[in-house]
Amino acid sequence: MADKSSGQIDTVMREERLFPPSAEFVAKADIDSMAAYETLWNEAEADPEAFWGKLAAELHWFKPFETVLEWDEPFAKWFVGGQTNVSYNCLDAHLGTERENKTAILWEGEPGDERSFTYKELHAEVCKFANVLKTLGIGRGDVVSIYMPMVPELAIAMLACTRIGAVHSVIFAGFSAAAIADRNGDASAKLQLTSDAAWRRGKQLPLKATIDEALAKSPSVEKCVVLRRVGNDVTMQEGRDFWWHELMAEASADCPAEPLDSETPLFILYTSGSTGKPKGIMHTTAGYNLFAKKTFEWVFDHRDSDIFWCTADCGWITGHSYIVYGPLSAGATVVMYEGAPNHPDEGRFWQIVEKYKVTIFYTAPTAIRAFIKWGDQFPERSDLSSLRLLGTVGEGINPAAWMWYHRTIGGERCPIVDTWWQTETGGIMMSPLPAAVPTKPGSCTKPIPGVVPAIVDDDGNPVAANRGGMLCIAKPWPGMLRGIWGDEERYREQYWSTVPGMFLTGDNARCDDDSYYWIMGRIDDVINVSGHRLSTIEVESALVSHPHVAECAAVGRPHELKGEAISVFVTVKDVEPSDELRDELKAHVRKEIGALAVPDDIRFTAALPKTRSGKIMRRLLRDIASGNTEVGDTSTLEDYSVLAKLRGEEE
Ligand code: WTA
Repeated sequence: MADKSSGQIDTVMREERLFPPSAEFVAKADIDSMAAYETLWNEAEADPEAFWGKLAAELHWFKPFETVLEWDEPFAKWFVGGQTNVSYNCLDAHLGTERENKTAILWEGEPGDERSFTYKELHAEVCKFANVLKTLGIGRGDVVSIYMPMVPELAIAMLACTRIGAVHSVIFAGFSAAAIADRNGDASAKLQLTSDAAWRRGKQLPLKATIDEALAKSPSVEKCVVLRRVGNDVTMQEGRDFWWHELMAEASADCPAEPLDSETPLFILYTSGSTGKPKGIMHTTAGYNLFAKKTFEWVFDHRDSDIFWCTADCGWITGHSYIVYGPLSAGATVVMYEGAPNHPDEGRFWQIVEKYKVTIFYTAPTAIRAFIKWGDQFPERSDLSSLRLLGTVGEGINPAAWMWYHRTIGGERCPIVDTWWQTETGGIMMSPLPAAVPTKPGSCTKPIPGVVPAIVDDDGNPVAANRGGMLCIAKPWPGMLRGIWGDEERYREQYWSTVPGMFLTGDNARCDDDSYYWIMGRIDDVINVSGHRLSTIEVESALVSHPHVAECAAVGRPHELKGEAISVFVTVKDVEPSDELRDELKAHVRKEIGALAVPDDIRFTAALPKTRSGKIMRRLLRDIASGNTEVGDTSTLEDYSVLAKLRGEEE
């Protein structure tokens, strides 16, 4: 039993199954044994600067760096004195090699249209658009705000910015005008990129109309470039708005990549923190590029014959690092899909896997739970035999969902890489290297070479094996954020003030007897019941292993006697919600975990409220569970009707 004051967290989840990779998978891999992984990790740990300094030779340097790392906590400078260019590393580096005519992007639109670009073709498009940016007065350090659908031009725009040293701020195309204006203001964005509309489940999302509203409140934005994607009517403001295709028609394809200092800002990406105000996470050039490339190669065991599909949107860090920068630096072929997984039906993803013979598939647990709910008939309709490796990111994956992914999608032959990382970390921090580290369902297993995690209690002392604590990173790594845009104080305070000398991730974790890491949710997702601190994810895992639970979220609410009570929100499958089912679920949790974790109340709901990136809105659920009338900021709610439904349930 944990002592409450020590900051330790009780753990009740035990997962004993171990899944080693098949001999066939191992035979083709570079890092092909636990010993090989450990050698690499130990080498990095013993001398990180030598380790990263050596790997940095994989990037193109206009000017070699002099110092690998200057660390003045909490400010890191990597590859000081050197000059490189991310767009060069992603494109030019492959020209004149056998990858020149290799496909870089295989794109499919939601209506079924297709386009593809070889590295050479992509290079030409990026050069042209970089020239367009220049004619619009964009240069080094200028911030370009991008609000676009998942079309190739989104990647082209990002790469064009990096080519000339402009800083992009991609805003997910589901955000409201107010949210865009906030972000544009915070970043002092100078140029806006958008499209007429986007396709979403067969409907048109009027992006340009939203941008018109946002730009009315974005005084720093001078001009706006509009891509014609859908063909709907839009208002073009004379002198401010320009058509993408008209500018491109006149642009030259000659635009050499500019040599940029290693620490040149590369992009800003806004993410939500513990307060309502979004933080502009800032990444820079050389360190981020190297980290995205190496983590891509290591974690996905990338071979030149692979077809890699990451289903994220470029509006999130996963799209930045594993659709654009990591894979393209590694010369990979990526699939990019514009639309929803359930359009025209719930089998769309599996049709795409079959059609493009996808070999590596990387998605989020929230999507996996949706697939489970939709039923096995959809994946069963498609030939998924091209797949050789599966991945997950974004939240913990419940062992039950992991097993479904393993069996139904992976045909029991594909290793699963459960990748733990954050917008702040730039790239994957913990994940099995698939041919080296046997997996345990629900565990992100081990740190990537060069990553040194630590789990500490409230006093900053390391906790023992199997005890939960705050997950920190003990040493700087090349992909780390360099700050919060325009807010040094918040950067120090948020990440570097809680545990001396360490980066605070904001997640809880535990390490088991085999030194496998288990993420236990955010620090504020801890429920304290009668002096037991429980992680919400553990309660959820137990519930999701019940055959009639599709998805669930557990939160704490104040309770007179226990301190906190456990409140869970459940969406069911195959049966109607009933009091009997409620009792059955309580009994199930009691059986899976023990009496201390039995939920005090179970609410059935048609759907859980989610942010646009698919994260369950726990703050809102906590508010609902504790009966507060005032709910927090819900501007990122996917569907407001869910809130109303949940409130109806309460009465
Ligand atoms: C959570 C997404 C458990 C975690 C790349 C983290 C995970 C936050 C996992 C970052 C995982 C991400 N297992 N939890 N494999 N991956 N998380 O910034 O709480 O959108 O701190 O970056 O997602 O979310 P972000």
